Amino acid sequence: MKLDRILPFARTLLEKAFIPGTIAVDATLGNGHDTYFLAKLASVDGHVYGFDIQKEAIQTTKERLDADNLSDRVTLIHDGHEKVKEHIPESVKGKITAAIFNLGYLPGGDKSIVTKAETTISAIEQLLDLLAVEGIIVLVIYHGHDEGAIERDELLQYVKELDQQKAHVLRYQFENQKNNAPFIIAIEKR
Ligand SMILES: C[S@@+](CC[C@H](N)C(=O)[O-])C[C@H]1O[C@@H](n2cnc3c(N)ncnc32)[C@H](O)[C@@H]1O
Repeated sequence: MKLDRILPFARTLLEKAFIPGTIAVDATLGNGHDTYFLAKLASVDGHVYGFDIQKEAIQTTKERLDADNLSDRVTLIHDGHEKVKEHIPESVKGKITAAIFNLGYLPGGDKSIVTKAETTISAIEQLLDLLAVEGIIVLVIYHGHDEGAIERDELLQYVKELDQQKAHVLRYQFENQKNNAPFIIAIEKR
């Protein structure tokens, strides 16, 4: 297949947006795959901030980074992404070039702990303020579980109302896939 699948396309967007030496945010660490990917892109003078409310996610990510000596480039925050401005110093404003939200529940973890629209939207709002011009926020939306469908609807409503003078909003989705396959919303700050 020539078309990018969903997760590779999310990575392509991050690669395009994230300028080495600047700052990236992984709003949902989970098993740490995105943070690891961003830490490699960050290069020695860049930095990644990663959030998760589950201790298990922090630990798994830490082990993944330690194994490749990438921990110095990453700050792991055991707290909700809706508190992004409490944890990321004001001095980084305008220096964040990429952020990712892989929504839903932790694969292999407790499926009752899921991301929710209210906190996701609060984090997006804060990140839009901190983002550099042409910085991109990538949302991977999993809507196969009940709360995921609610989060999807609220997020779609929210992004449709974002002022087009302030942000470009892209949706990338396979229209004929069954079983509520995940899709991407990307928001680029103008
Ligand atoms: C789909 S997983 C992320 C997958 C991850 N990107 C990976 O590479 O494995 C979603 C994660 O979001 C976390 N989460 C849920 N609500 C959160 C919140 N308010 N702030 C930060 N993380 C949250 C969950 O604990 C879970 O680990």
